[in-house]
Amino acid sequence: MCGIVGYVGHRNSADVLVNALTRLEYRGYDSAGIAVFENDKISVAKSKGKLKDLVDKMDREGKPQGISGIGHTRWATHGEPSDINSHPHSGAKVTLVHNGIIENYKELKEFLEKQGRSFLSDTDTEVVAQLLDYYYSHIKEPVKAIIETTQELKGSFALGIVFEDFPNKVFAVRRESPLIIGIGKDENFIASDVPAIIQYTKDYYLLEHDEIAVLEQKRVRIFDIHYQPVKKELKTADWDVDAVGKGGYPHYMIKEINEQPTAIKNTVLPRIKDGVPCLDECNINPEVLKNIKNIYIVACGSAMHSGMVGKYVIEEIARTAVTVDIASEFRYRNPIVGKGDLIIIVSQSGETADSLAAMRLAKQKGAKTLAIVNAMGSTIAREADMLIYTHAGPEISVASTKAYMVQLSVMYLFAFELAFAKGQIDEEKYRYLTSKLLETPEMVEKVIEHTTEISQKISTKLLTADSLLYIGRGLDYALSMEGSLKLKEISYIHSESYAAGELKHGTISLITKGMPVIAVATQSSIYEKTVSNIKEVKARGAKVIMICREGNDVPKDIADYVLKIPNFEEILLPMLVCVPLQLIAYYTAVQRGNDVDQPRNLAKSVTVE
Ligand code: M6R
Repeated sequence: MCGIVGYVGHRNSADVLVNALTRLEYRGYDSAGIAVFENDKISVAKSKGKLKDLVDKMDREGKPQGISGIGHTRWATHGEPSDINSHPHSGAKVTLVHNGIIENYKELKEFLEKQGRSFLSDTDTEVVAQLLDYYYSHIKEPVKAIIETTQELKGSFALGIVFEDFPNKVFAVRRESPLIIGIGKDENFIASDVPAIIQYTKDYYLLEHDEIAVLEQKRVRIFDIHYQPVKKELKTADWDVDAVGKGGYPHYMIKEINEQPTAIKNTVLPRIKDGVPCLDECNINPEVLKNIKNIYIVACGSAMHSGMVGKYVIEEIARTAVTVDIASEFRYRNPIVGKGDLIIIVSQSGETADSLAAMRLAKQKGAKTLAIVNAMGSTIAREADMLIYTHAGPEISVASTKAYMVQLSVMYLFAFELAFAKGQIDEEKYRYLTSKLLETPEMVEKVIEHTTEISQKISTKLLTADSLLYIGRGLDYALSMEGSLKLKEISYIHSESYAAGELKHGTISLITKGMPVIAVATQSSIYEKTVSNIKEVKARGAKVIMICREGNDVPKDIADYVLKIPNFEEILLPMLVCVPLQLIAYYTAVQRGNDVDQPRNLAKSVTVE
């Protein structure tokens, strides 16, 4: 999704803006631009393509010089990626960048056209620029003009704004789309996310809905929608610039895969007290847990897949019904939820538009909401009734790995505490399961070490495949979903995940000679059943890659490759098995020469529907 930055300070602002935008590249984008105050005039440079294209253009045509400005990476929504549609967009006196979607831009455009205004681009953003310019031309006061404008807007927006009449001031406002205000020494920033500014400052304010910030070199003022000053709590990021670098790895994705043991420790250890999970600080205690009737886990993509694992685990050990829902479906199907139900929203970014809307809907219907979120201070984190932060640190690669892993670890913490509170497991089992969870960082480390080479080898066999299947049963099926998503999003090879027992109801007709099938078979109670399904695909010519456990009796000739995972507590195996699935996807994408960290068409933080 689009990234916004802004700067007022003592440095060359074009350099600061480009640096900061580089840190937001992970969000996904297809064009970039900046606007800088140069000799009290606003100078704009923008270009379709990557930031490098913008930098090359500025090298050719001249880089705007000045100490303040705004910048943007655009993920196209209204109008194709092009120089013209790139941000910033301008009116006569106003230039701005925007993240979000203006739902009523057509009506506003018609109104402005009637006022004699014309437009260069296809974007909703240019409509905002012209509307603000229109109000500013009447009101002549920037904050009041911003307030007037935002009252007309429907939809989501974070805006970075400069007014030609106010050199070296940057204005910002937001509704729904995130925006932070970075506070430095004699320099201040705006940004969509903390990584953008972490090399300059760790201190920041979170801008709330409809708040307006006015940044100057030595001060920042924040106002509410009634133009009243607002006092904010200064936050400090608890990680530094190394956390947002590649740390010697060729890609963020492989760095983040390797960070998983640490991420699990950081997430789980603080929640263990006297040898068992304690989620009191998250407002979750045995009393709350005992009263839960039904659980819904609602999320998107990998976060939803962590919920699939959560469903199997919670139902198995806490004997509580769990429904997993895709957030974009949940929000529009008038779900039957209410008092007594718990809605668990899982999100790395905490800003995913569909997940946020689903959570708000659940609250409206009287259900309790629990957010499992990685990004501190994000909207989902702030609006949920109960909150468990995962501590994966910043996840930069679009393909989620460590965030998914720690979501799994929280599913276990929650399931164990729920099972004990509901009297489904005794204290001995409770302590035993917790102790096993505490062993997972070490086990994951081992699995990374032991499966890297074979995953690499397996990936060479997938490179030319047109399509492949992931199959499994139970927890293995939940994992297959994630394995399949990981592969398709970064390697661009089509794949599907299927419940192994469901194949013969249609999908098995797709199997032709040489088609790769990745079969996950780690659960002992259903191992033989999955083996039978593997035999069925093998008999039809599939090239089978089987993932099972050390010590499993693998019948001769059913698999072309066997990848074995160390024996471990069965219910916790998903935390180990997801590692080779991530590695297979990673090495396949690398060998196909793809942009692993920023796959085509995708964005890290999906803040629009
Ligand atoms: O920030 P969120 O966890 O809410 O994001 C949800 C999905 O967009 C995300 O998991 C997506 O599927 C990833 N690209 C998967 O690797």
